[in-house]
Amino acid sequence: LPNIVILASGNGSNFEAIVNATRKGILNANILRLITNKKCFAEERAKKLGISHTRLKDNWAEELFVLLKELAPDLVVLAGFMKILPSKIVNNFKIVNIHPSLLPAFPGKDAIKQAYEYGVKVTGITIHFVDEGVDTGPIIFQKALEIDGLTLEEVEKEIHKLEHKHYPQVIESILNS
Ligand code: GAR
Repeated sequence: LPNIVILASGNGSNFEAIVNATRKGILNANILRLITNKKCFAEERAKKLGISHTRLKDNWAEELFVLLKELAPDLVVLAGFMKILPSKIVNNFKIVNIHPSLLPAFPGKDAIKQAYEYGVKVTGITIHFVDEGVDTGPIIFQKALEIDGLTLEEVEKEIHKLEHKHYPQVIESILNS
């Protein structure tokens, strides 16, 4: 099986969806490690799911580079990892990211809220290869969502549903391409 490493900084719901997809046979991959850069709920999920976990320290970028060299994953999966990766890492590994808007609209933090407050009638999710920018890099997959008349909470729920459904499938297709 191909090996993947998942990087997260927050809730970890995408991390959990990816783990569950491997257990259901939707995603045929071996998850080597969850890597976080701070204390977060994703770490609790890793414990519960029996996935080994490393929390990066202050010198996070160098530590991450060394760790990835050692683990040598086929793909690095960003799942709410809220740090910009240095070129040394971006240029040495195949890395994919998910973002909760239709890029290039609303990059950065709180994209769902940014889109909602702007008043867009259609938003969505983007899965893309990672370069040195903030939520930039070649787009692999997008799914649109009509949000006219929904509350922010409803939009958040629908966006996360789309993420949890599509991210494992897109990872599977990248690993098979
Ligand atoms: C997800 O909505 C993901 O798209 C977003 O962080 C959330 C993490 O949720 N990523 C970005 O905004 C990247 N710029 P999770 O921790 O529950 O998976």
